[in-house]
Amino acid sequence: MRRAIVPGTFDPVTSGHIDIIERAGTLFDDIVIGVAHSPNKGGGPLFTIEERVGFLETATAHLDNVVVRPFDTLLVRFAEKIGANVIVKGLRALTDFEREFQMAALNWRLDSEVETMFIMAVPENMYLSSSAVKEIAAHGGSVRGLVPDVVQAAIDQKLGKVR
Ligand code: PNS
Repeated sequence: MRRAIVPGTFDPVTSGHIDIIERAGTLFDDIVIGVAHSPNKGGGPLFTIEERVGFLETATAHLDNVVVRPFDTLLVRFAEKIGANVIVKGLRALTDFEREFQMAALNWRLDSEVETMFIMAVPENMYLSSSAVKEIAAHGGSVRGLVPDVVQAAIDQKLGKVR
């Protein structure tokens, strides 16, 4: 059984994340999406851990071999606990590389039996990020197509808008 973990803060999940999860799902028997609490990231997440898990469950309901689980430990400890020996992350433009390289190296130091693998973002998602989505939405721009429908509805509601 080849199980991989796709970890992230997912605040919120974007269409880019979904693309990576779908492609990872074709390469492994099953995928656990690990949603990190990340209380300190960027001044605290916009969406609660329950909301972020819920968005992912809805947006991946069409994928039979994917489950969503929150975690608040070291990533490698969580990977060990669920029996995943591969961490899959999406890689966008070069700007991602240094941070991802550092995390992969540290995770390898913590547990060399857990491999990190990267899947390249498709060109249309190269500059798509959760932060950009939040920035666009906060300024009243449309995030249609950049996020799953469930997230778009939640963003509209959170910002008190019905577009
Ligand atoms: O969505 P992100 O910011 O790319 O996700 C980062 C994440 C959640 C994968 C990373 O912060 C993480 O693994 N957090 C858990 C704590 C941990 O293991 N930190 C050490 C990794 S260097």
